Amino acid sequence: EKQGFKHFMLKEIYEQPGVVRACLEAYFTNDPSSPINLSLPVELYVDLEQIQILACGTSWHAALIGKYLIEQLAGIPTQVHYASEFRYAPSPLTANTLTIGVTQSGETADTLAALAMEKERRSGRELKYQPRLLGITNRPESTLGEMVSQIIDIHGGLEIGVAATKTFIAQLMAFYALALDLAYRRQTISPDQLEEIITSLRQIPKEIEATLERQENLIEQLAHDFAETTDFIFVGRGINFPIALEGALKLKEISYIHAEGYPAGEMKHGPIALLDAKVPVVAIAMPGNVYEKVISNAQEAKARDSRLIGVTPVNDGEAAEIFNDLLPVSNVDELLSPILTVIPLQLLAYHIAARRGLDVDQPRNLAKSVTVE
Ligand code: F6R
Repeated sequence: EKQGFKHFMLKEIYEQPGVVRACLEAYFTNDPSSPINLSLPVELYVDLEQIQILACGTSWHAALIGKYLIEQLAGIPTQVHYASEFRYAPSPLTANTLTIGVTQSGETADTLAALAMEKERRSGRELKYQPRLLGITNRPESTLGEMVSQIIDIHGGLEIGVAATKTFIAQLMAFYALALDLAYRRQTISPDQLEEIITSLRQIPKEIEATLERQENLIEQLAHDFAETTDFIFVGRGINFPIALEGALKLKEISYIHAEGYPAGEMKHGPIALLDAKVPVVAIAMPGNVYEKVISNAQEAKARDSRLIGVTPVNDGEAAEIFNDLLPVSNVDELLSPILTVIPLQLLAYHIAARRGLDVDQPRNLAKSVTVE
């Protein structure tokens, strides 16, 4: 069943181009008069003033990228909460609010409880406080599916590895579709801009394939160098800050190496004290809004003797010079870049763990769905 791959996780990493194609097929049409096909009812969108997203773990990271997309494309203020925190300290009720639960399995106890609480406290109130609940999940038939009135199916296919990979990519695709749909309806982007973004999204599967092809051997080799490494730092900014968190989480989960993800600009407020030659720093540096900032933050790390690994476009002269190692990705629009930048980080975590001989698909202390509090 692993189809020649050593672990399910690696097989699932390689399934990602196909997952993105399935999402593109499901969410976008070739009909210019109705380009996005989420089948969400108008009651969900009408007079919408706020969005709150509840999730755990990797789904929470996808939600952070969703927030960035929704705020930047559609201009709707969006809050992201850990479901386990929100359920015991909910934000004050806001009017005309869409609540989105993101859970790959549809069975995560904290996410379900937070959604149930939100539904309960809003029910029976005046119209503008009524619950509007949307679920983003890989399993529409799950408990989540029963709890909410609307679902976006992420089309990830069965994921067996405990560490989420292809379902993360699929959640991102759902957020691209949702943010674009909101932006299109609210006319915060023009039809031309929308078409341009969808056209670029359609190129992404090929870019993921190219990244996998270009990098697997390289990363497998690189993994040898971290046989004794005990700490890793991942940094990114803007839309790639959550990818730094996700890269660190993947590494922690399967390799048991201590890893932290930070917004690159925060390093100087404390964590930089950790850096020395023993602590590698992975920096996600994609051309765009915060590129120079990330490069200069990376330089600060290098000045503390950290080995600097860059997730950055292949033929960028400046970046190539400062990094000790490159995990090259294609130079795509910054807005779409998280779908690509996460790929080398998944491979890095995988190869470090596999190299250490660990049980990649069944890491210690973890379960595929966390159905207890
Ligand atoms: C990370 C991972 C966990 C899950 C989290 C939420 O690789 O697998 O962090 O993302 O337990 O799970 P779902 O999405 O099923 O709610």
